[in-house]
Amino acid sequence: MLKERLTRRESLLQCAALGSLRLVPWLGLTQAVSALEAQERDLTRKPTQWNEIGPFYKRLAPNSAQLRAPNEPGLPVTVSGRVFDTRGDILAGAKIEIWQANHFGLYDLDGYRYRASLSAGPEGKYSFDSVMPGHYPARVCQHIHYLVTAPGHKPLITQLYFATDPVFEGDPDRNYSRDPLVMSRELVRPVTLSGDPKAIQANVNFEVVLDRL
Ligand SMILES: [Fe+2]
Repeated sequence: MLKERLTRRESLLQCAALGSLRLVPWLGLTQAVSALEAQERDLTRKPTQWNEIGPFYKRLAPNSAQLRAPNEPGLPVTVSGRVFDTRGDILAGAKIEIWQANHFGLYDLDGYRYRASLSAGPEGKYSFDSVMPGHYPARVCQHIHYLVTAPGHKPLITQLYFATDPVFEGDPDRNYSRDPLVMSRELVRPVTLSGDPKAIQANVNFEVVLDRL
């Protein structure tokens, strides 16, 4: 008969019983194991939810974080974040491909406007400057597509949504599923405005977590 896998707590207690986990005399076993378990839990992260790739992906986008040309219409938006794996390790060098519609809801199918292929920096950080994508008839919500890859990890295809999208009417908790493709509330991110009233701009943080292979 197959033995069920031990819980993390049971395996830590087993380690202590067999001597592979040792404690200094003033640490109580139960408390120390609970503390260790809590610390491990804090470092782990849930993988980012998958979302449709859609029909407009193109390979070989340029490695440029400046997607917004000067004077291009639309609300300027800077998206930044970090790439981790589910153990909380930073994935420096992860490849982040992004593509989106312009302010008018149009994808560039001939060239590479509003498309980029970026690399996460040494601390797993990435950032790009763009405009808030427009709505288009086939989709309910504004969104930016992501394809994130890193050696030893499952490729992630997902989409970033914006809490300020008019479709959510200010309440994405309640209304996120108005777009049937938005299956996870976690993909809808808050928007922070900065700049001054004559040059306002949006800022969005989108952390990405890849599953290990
Ligand atoms: Fe799209």
